[in-house]
Amino acid sequence: TPRVFSGIQPSGGLTLGNYLGAIKRFVDMQDTGIETLYCMVDLHAITVWQDPAALRRQTRELAAGYIAAGLDPAKSLLFNQSQVPEHAQLGWIFNCVARMGWMSRMTQFKDKAGKNRENASLGLFAYPALMAADILVYHATHVPVGEDQKQHIELTRDVAAKFNHDYGVDFFPMTEPVIEGAATRVMSLRDGSKKMSKSDPSPASRINMTDDADAIAKKIRKAKTDPDALPSEAQGLEDRPEARNLVNIFAGLADMKVDHVLADFGGKQFSDFKPALIDLAVSKLAPISTEMDRLMQHPDEIDRILTKGATRARQIAAPILAQTYEIVGMVGPK
Ligand code: TYM
Repeated sequence: TPRVFSGIQPSGGLTLGNYLGAIKRFVDMQDTGIETLYCMVDLHAITVWQDPAALRRQTRELAAGYIAAGLDPAKSLLFNQSQVPEHAQLGWIFNCVARMGWMSRMTQFKDKAGKNRENASLGLFAYPALMAADILVYHATHVPVGEDQKQHIELTRDVAAKFNHDYGVDFFPMTEPVIEGAATRVMSLRDGSKKMSKSDPSPASRINMTDDADAIAKKIRKAKTDPDALPSEAQGLEDRPEARNLVNIFAGLADMKVDHVLADFGGKQFSDFKPALIDLAVSKLAPISTEMDRLMQHPDEIDRILTKGATRARQIAAPILAQTYEIVGMVGPK
């Protein structure tokens, strides 16, 4: 049976990249009738230092972002990872399945650890094994993510295959990444060769989900471009990373194909395109940020939603973990 799982780290503000690459597509999948589980991966967030009060606030803010963007707690399970201890428990088993060599090849680890690897947390190194557990503890078959998570999903498949092979079972499924749409890799507004990221030192490089209409307009107006008019076909964007990024963002927000955006704007200058993009972005994003603000006034309600989601998630995860323990040879309760 198909089952969708995905997660986002509550490690800072949500960006337009998180929205277009992940949350918006979580909402699309929620409405297909397939069972959907969406997590705030707080255990992953602490692989780099998080101030405790900030972590709590960011977890609630992420939940508010999910809901404001259209995830419905009655249709999708929304919860934070630490309230479902089966993630960490299966994560340990996978620490013993995954190989050090696999982990050292992960680009997210290399980026985040930087030059001083000796000083990175052990959790940062083992991060992808816990991510594999997030997914496989539900036998999830489909994982909507942005392009940057593809390698981690491949590793998840490697973990599943090695577990199945080592124990001679056909237990964990081969999970498929779902990397679709026009904006699977949203780039910085200041530099078309860098991913839009919450950790970029320049606030002008990203649109935050909490930005109001003015801030959105300002950042798009200042976004880097080139002097040429827009091409009328996608091919014409190949060597124009900044132009391509803005067109992809437009297509992602409007749920259009890039070719259709260019059919409308081919031959036009950025002085025409940017105002249209501002109108679109404000009309799609400003209501979400307003709703996030409103929800954040009711943190108790958010906490209740998360606890309820976690209770239901555990009902799926606990039997799968128990079967895993059985396969591995742990003596269980009588
Ligand atoms: P995280 O928290 O960095 O990002 C959350 C989601 O947002 C996507 N994303 C982007 N998509 C397009 N353009 C961008 N500029 C951009 N920036 C971020 C990411 O691809 C991701 O889908 N390891 C994961 C969290 C995780 C997870 C999981 C995901 C933990 N366990 C299990 C799926 C399933 C991460 O660091 O995402």
